[in-house]
Amino acid sequence: DPRVLLGLLASYLLGAVPFGFVMVRLVKGVDLRTVGSGNIGATNAMRVLGRPLGLVAFLLDLAKGWVPAALFAPWSTGHAPFASDVSVAVPVLFGAAAVVGHVLPVYLRFKGGKAVATGCGALIAIDPLVFLVGGASWLVALGLSRMVSVASLAMAVAFAAAAWWRAPAHVDGAFLGAGSSALAVLILWRHRSNIGRILKGTEPRIGARRAAPD
Ligand code: G3P
Repeated sequence: DPRVLLGLLASYLLGAVPFGFVMVRLVKGVDLRTVGSGNIGATNAMRVLGRPLGLVAFLLDLAKGWVPAALFAPWSTGHAPFASDVSVAVPVLFGAAAVVGHVLPVYLRFKGGKAVATGCGALIAIDPLVFLVGGASWLVALGLSRMVSVASLAMAVAFAAAAWWRAPAHVDGAFLGAGSSALAVLILWRHRSNIGRILKGTEPRIGARRAAPD
């Protein structure tokens, strides 16, 4: 179906827009890839921009996942938005396309982020309960570790578990379970430099600054 292909392409191209990178360039005139962790995501943008604008970057990266799964997907299949009696396969596929865009952005020579905020956005659209379980895990892990990466890793695992728990509540729910499990693996893979620093004890805690990029 050409509408599905067009929708997937639009999802990828929207997901690829590096909002944190663009905001840091516009507000501070610096290349986000050269500061902090070197990542283009909202966490690193917040290190440069501060809390309020960092939160804006997070919400924009989140919207990149929400819009494809909540709006582009039903458009492509001719369903009403937020219909609960249709297959979850298409929204999962569209959310995945946005996440791939964020991780491999055509605008930045395919060097993108760690899939956290954009994955959150897609899951909010597909099943808010899965997001709430993950978000609660994120808050608890951040409180205990003071490391955003540890919180993101805990959330990734919680997403996969919560998605399989919620799968029976959806039409073709296995797509939600499998998609969230793939997201968890991707998030773990994209955090491999963080994991190395966590194990060495050099991963920065919130509030502190870090010197060298990845
Ligand atoms: O969402 C990304 C976060 O988990 C880690 O970001 O910049 O500390 O590598 P960063």
